[in-house]
Amino acid sequence: MGLFSTKSLADLHAEADRSVLRRSLGPWNLTALGIGSIIGTGIFVLTGTAASQNAGPALVLSMIISAVGCAFCGLCYAEFASMVPVAGSAYTYAYATMGELLAWIIGWDLILEYALSASTVAVGWSGYFVSLARDVGVVVPASLAGPPGAFNLPAAAIVLIVAALLVIGIKQSADTNTLLVAIKTVVLIVFVVAGAAFVKRANLTPFVPPNTGAFGSFGWSGVLRGAGVMFFAYIGFDAVSTAAQEASNPKRDMPIGILASLAICTVIYILVATVLLGIVPYQQLMVPDPLAVGIDATGLTWLSPVIKIAALFGLFSTMLVQMLAQTRIFYSMSRDGLLPKIFGVVHPRFRTPHLSTIMTGAVIALAAGLTPITVLGQLVSIGTLLAFVLVSGGVVILRRTAPDAPRPFRTPWVPLVPIAGALICLAQMASLPLATWERLVIWLAIGLVVYSSYSRRSSRLAVSR
Ligand code: ALA
Repeated sequence: MGLFSTKSLADLHAEADRSVLRRSLGPWNLTALGIGSIIGTGIFVLTGTAASQNAGPALVLSMIISAVGCAFCGLCYAEFASMVPVAGSAYTYAYATMGELLAWIIGWDLILEYALSASTVAVGWSGYFVSLARDVGVVVPASLAGPPGAFNLPAAAIVLIVAALLVIGIKQSADTNTLLVAIKTVVLIVFVVAGAAFVKRANLTPFVPPNTGAFGSFGWSGVLRGAGVMFFAYIGFDAVSTAAQEASNPKRDMPIGILASLAICTVIYILVATVLLGIVPYQQLMVPDPLAVGIDATGLTWLSPVIKIAALFGLFSTMLVQMLAQTRIFYSMSRDGLLPKIFGVVHPRFRTPHLSTIMTGAVIALAAGLTPITVLGQLVSIGTLLAFVLVSGGVVILRRTAPDAPRPFRTPWVPLVPIAGALICLAQMASLPLATWERLVIWLAIGLVVYSSYSRRSSRLAVSR
């Protein structure tokens, strides 16, 4: 037992049956939840950053590398999510397979994926907000538009608004989400259709710009680092799994929600990046609002505010799902005794973990106000890639330790698919800068201190030790 004690699958199913959260989400809601979480700052902002700093037109290749890794890991997530129909994502799966310590590490790591990526998206939101405000003659002063040296007020404010909506309840939030998802998906398709006629072959040549001498700055190492950076754009399909406790038929709908949302987004991303990089020379894309810059270059200026407004709505929906997922992971961790009980308190009428949502929202808002987008984005990427590696490993382990457990959805070609997924994720991690690795290690070290000084002793499983 001890650090390697796991929760039994039977316990997890019983826990799902006792759940007090409402079961109100069907396959469409879940796919929309996935797309709502996936499409965000990655495509709307980081496309420009990664193309101008790392990969040039070959960013399309970076996106494909990242998408293939996500598809393999998505298949692993789908198997876990259909087997373990309770809230908690990779954290819960790890608890069922790899023991409490690894579950804690993953849960702690997922704070990077969900809470910190909500901060990242909020900063992206702020970039489009400041740009739109400027168009209508309102100049947000530099002291309020974000680091370095300033607080990002629009980013912090939008986080608090999202938190308020989440306190009111999941059903309302999911309906709002479906509408917002439709808006951002349509506007990306409009961007592709409107921009396609303006693509110039010269902008896409050379397809892989020569390396500048530094690792990750163009050339093939740039393509790989571009994949690590753009990985951020795919994060979110696994958020579907965190809503398993609120799904009406988790066994069937979890895999549908995860894989369908990932596939739809991948196609859209490749089209958007090809058109954007064909319209504007990649060197000009280190801006907070690259898609608007792309549309301006076509002369279709009426479309520019449409893109910005849709980006604002779209990024809003991304934050909604990420923060929802984060509070649900905290909910699970608190019920397991690894976090204080306050994270599991459910509001008697709204049926939402309101106290956790308010506290989490405050911290996410602070991080969004104080940290630059590249620092946030890369830290989220590396943290999530690590979680994916661990989840892929979990599928293989569980096939050995619990071969007969019911698997409504089976990952094909195990162990090939999980191994390929893990290797692609590791390669993307390896491509990220040393400073990002250092931040990851520090974060995990803090997590281990919290675990050994609090969670290990208060864990519900501690009773059996
Ligand atoms: N995939 C999400 C985004 O691009 C996190 O914003």
